[in-house]
Amino acid sequence: MDIARTTAALRGAPRVRAAAVLHAGGELVAYVVPGHNTAAVSAWRDAFREIYKEPAAPDGFDARGWVSSIDGKPLAEQDMRAWRDTTVARLLAAPPGRVLEVGCGNGLLATELIGPCAAYTGTDIVAEGLPSLRTRLQPLGPGKATLVRAEATDLHTLPGEYDLIVLNSVIQYFPDARYLLDVLDQAVAKLSPGGRLFVGDVRHSGLAERLYVERAYARLAEPTPEKVARLVRVSSTAEGELLADPRFFVAYAHRLGPDWYADVEPKRGRYDNELSRYRFDATLGRTPVPGAAPVVRSFGDLPRLLAGHVSPIVLRDLPNARLGSGGVHPEDVYELGAAHGYTVRLDWTGGGPEFDAYLSRDGRVAPLRLPPDGTPASHVSAPRLGGANERHAAEVLAHLGEVLPADLMPARIEIVDTLPT
Ligand SMILES: C[S@@+](CC[C@H](N)C(=O)[O-])C[C@H]1O[C@@H](n2cnc3c(N)ncnc32)[C@H](O)[C@@H]1O
Repeated sequence: MDIARTTAALRGAPRVRAAAVLHAGGELVAYVVPGHNTAAVSAWRDAFREIYKEPAAPDGFDARGWVSSIDGKPLAEQDMRAWRDTTVARLLAAPPGRVLEVGCGNGLLATELIGPCAAYTGTDIVAEGLPSLRTRLQPLGPGKATLVRAEATDLHTLPGEYDLIVLNSVIQYFPDARYLLDVLDQAVAKLSPGGRLFVGDVRHSGLAERLYVERAYARLAEPTPEKVARLVRVSSTAEGELLADPRFFVAYAHRLGPDWYADVEPKRGRYDNELSRYRFDATLGRTPVPGAAPVVRSFGDLPRLLAGHVSPIVLRDLPNARLGSGGVHPEDVYELGAAHGYTVRLDWTGGGPEFDAYLSRDGRVAPLRLPPDGTPASHVSAPRLGGANERHAAEVLAHLGEVLPADLMPARIEIVDTLPT
């Protein structure tokens, strides 16, 4: 009875998704599974609000807020245009149909997608940029755009289904793996039967340390191994964004079912910055064609195999030239294959800098399925939210203090992922 009352009070506390109270060693212990971290989400909303409060540039290209984390300077406009154009080309490689973009921001992609798509719905947690985006989209695709202020966890409230759902450069602002999985599950539920879910510009957790090293060298006037190591530790401890390993998407596709695939590819393009080096694009969908048995060769053989129309061709563990000298530039493989009439897909799901290449003359080469390795959540590194659990426990305790008599107060509160059974 007492426990029931304490449990009921806990369930009414802020951001409590589930709660249980147990007697342990003569005292009451409360276990709380938190709801989504609204404080972290609101902090990002406020940061983007600042960026969007001034209207966007009239030509529709607005790279405000795109700053290098390596040297703190704005990323070059020509590189951002290449980043935008290559992303759009990847999205338009198949007919886009009805598009939903989650976190559409100030419309860098929307202005390009609105023409070719059948209908475009853009959502963003920030309302400020949406009216001017609506005005810019109207002449580009009259009557096609619907813009809605919504948090990514509210996708279930949108009507209808979509052939292409895009989350580009958005998931790094999610507070943890549970939030990410909630959003992806909602997006998958909104896909049409042949639909694709594109999660682009994802920060690669396996390459984070290389990025921090690069940042340390850019910032130190006289770098020594000790100073670099110290700055790398600072970057790692202070990382405020969510990073994911490509294997997250493989494990997630596996969880969705045997007919789902996850394509994880390096960014397209010749521009060279932290976006091309340390980010990737993932596409999830249902497997369209059964795979042909691949032929495994080395990169040196590629020109001869292409000239001989061998198909399919699979190249394994190519060292990535963007991340070290003497490797293979991903763009060389894309361009060489395309010049010979091949469909090219690069696979970056290995977790390291190396990638595999699949080239075929008759359309898609079915993805080589890696066995999933760990749960999806085990491949996401959560941002440091600085004592978030402790703050939440204190908030819950303060709430209980207001609604419960002292003898029903738990002795302590444990913030947990799942309740003890
Ligand atoms: C870097 S911008 C990317 C904009 C656009 N997708 C693009 O690729 O150019 C990230 C956008 O995500 C939005 N955002 C961040 N967290 C969000 C959340 N939890 N729910 C919905 N939108 C969010 C931000 O307001 C911002 O507009």
